[in-house]
Amino acid sequence: MPNNNFFERGFDDKTSIKLGLYESYLTEFLGVWVASSFGERAPKEIDIYDFFAGPGVDGEGVPGSPMVAYEVIAKYADRLAASGQRIRLWLSDIEKGRVASLRSLFSNRSEWPSNTSIEIHEMDFRDALNANQARLGKIPALIFADQFGVKYITPDIFQKLVALKATDLIFFISSWTLNRFSDHENIKKYHQGIGDHLKDTKAEHVHRKVKDYYQSLVPNGREYHLAPFSMKKGANVHGIIFGTSHIAGMRKFLNVAWKIDTDRGEADFDIDDDRLIDDSHQLDMLGDDRAPKKVELFQEELRDAILSGRLGSDKAVHEFSIYSGFRPTEHARPVVDQLRKDGLLVVNGGRIRLGDACCKSPRRFIVTEQ
Ligand SMILES: C[S@@+](CC[C@H](N)C(=O)[O-])C[C@H]1O[C@@H](n2cnc3c(N)ncnc32)[C@H](O)[C@@H]1O
Repeated sequence: MPNNNFFERGFDDKTSIKLGLYESYLTEFLGVWVASSFGERAPKEIDIYDFFAGPGVDGEGVPGSPMVAYEVIAKYADRLAASGQRIRLWLSDIEKGRVASLRSLFSNRSEWPSNTSIEIHEMDFRDALNANQARLGKIPALIFADQFGVKYITPDIFQKLVALKATDLIFFISSWTLNRFSDHENIKKYHQGIGDHLKDTKAEHVHRKVKDYYQSLVPNGREYHLAPFSMKKGANVHGIIFGTSHIAGMRKFLNVAWKIDTDRGEADFDIDDDRLIDDSHQLDMLGDDRAPKKVELFQEELRDAILSGRLGSDKAVHEFSIYSGFRPTEHARPVVDQLRKDGLLVVNGGRIRLGDACCKSPRRFIVTEQ
């Protein structure tokens, strides 16, 4: 029985946040690959997969992920025409009526952005993955897997996706369901060890923990990193998980996430309960300009790691910052600057680079006697 309500009642604000993340990351992703700085090595083709595409718009005509992707691609039309690169947007869904809606939305080929093809299929997720075996991992791609619930991004599927080269992943997962029903056969069938992973987890942190569960499934030796974005609906926390094998992909995702959650970069609510007073008006009146605890803790840890010699270059700081979920230029730079100002740190080679240009030739750090 299709879950028609989801579309008919109109997207709620959580769906809008999810689609906003997808839209912003896709914009960044195409910004890298279309007419990119790769010069001659720029890819001729780029794939975008939306394997749980839905009908394209909600009951009120608000764009769903297929239309969102189409509109982002359209912004690159001129650059695609100039570079000759081609984008293929793959849209599939298991439900006939939704696929018919997609076909009708995109029926006018003359309106498609230049050098873009749109493939629409009525297909189960697993079949759609198999149908693309010849391209997956060979052409730069973004996969959006906006499943209902929890049952499609299973450990074996996740491991297949992780193994793909130059393929970034965004998937939705109903983390509270995993937590609430971890002992249920229907959940254990898909996620065997999940109960142990989520044991004693605070409800607010469950999506973070689900991210850790997936991270533990990444095979040893594979450089692949995940970042969560938690969303709260009533008492239930679910969210999206982003995955990439490339540090630039993670940096770009963090830019997007920190724009939405300017305090912590990972949730649409006060996930660590560290703003004790919720009302921003009261905060203003009290003149309270505390940094949220999460940022403070990171900066303390970073400071200790630099002073102990564990992080000995701008490159090391850049990586540590990104894989801890923080923006190097915004959150790490002030720590490095302060250490230099206090005379505790000298940098070989002058200016450190923590932005996009980091870090072909790392600048070495020298910690001075304290
Ligand atoms: C959350 S909705 C996707 C919403 C869509 N991303 C949007 O923004 O409008 C999940 C979709 O997955 C589809 N679906 C459910 N099971 C599926 C399966 N096994 N394979 C492919 N699609 C499936 C449903 O028909 C539904 O349209």
